[in-house]
Amino acid sequence: MWIKRSPFENPKGLANLIGYRMFDGMVHQKNTKSFENAPEVPNFSRGHYLYRTRCAACHTMGQGDRLGPDLLNVVDRRDRVWLIRWLKAPDQMLAEKDPIALELFVRYKIPMPNLQLSDIDVGHLIDYMASESRNIAEQHSVAE
Ligand code: HEC
Repeated sequence: MWIKRSPFENPKGLANLIGYRMFDGMVHQKNTKSFENAPEVPNFSRGHYLYRTRCAACHTMGQGDRLGPDLLNVVDRRDRVWLIRWLKAPDQMLAEKDPIALELFVRYKIPMPNLQLSDIDVGHLIDYMASESRNIAEQHSVAE
């Protein structure tokens, strides 16, 4: 995984990405003792799976900024065409000096890597981010 990345990427981002993948986001649960106590593996949708394995190291939804911006409601916040292009080639958009890309880069300091996503996977990811944002909004309205 490390070899496949660009050597020009931010080392902190890489470490975070690889660490997250290796420990499956469970780095902080040091006292997990037995597989018997392991939570059941939920049945992930393709979008959810992609998000967890490719995006969650740098992004959260509704928990504030990580290495990148929080993605809650990003599907409503950004123009759809922009979002699709961004997910496919953030590096290219930055190189072309897209105003939003520049603004984000100034704020977050590290560039989002091009993850070589297919059109189909980009579609799954957008569906997942939209539905997860709705779920979170519903949970909030129930809690109030
Ligand atoms: C290595 C960290 C990293 C990974 C992995 C990553 N991103 Fe990002 N992402 C960023 C950063 C940093 C930004 C802010 C733009 C910049 O600085 O280039 C960003 C910006 C974004 C934005 C724009 C947010 C806005 O407010 O407009 C979206 C959408 C996004 N990422 C989605 C994703 C998705 C979906 C994935 C997984 C397929 C992903 N990112 C994977 C770091 C990452």
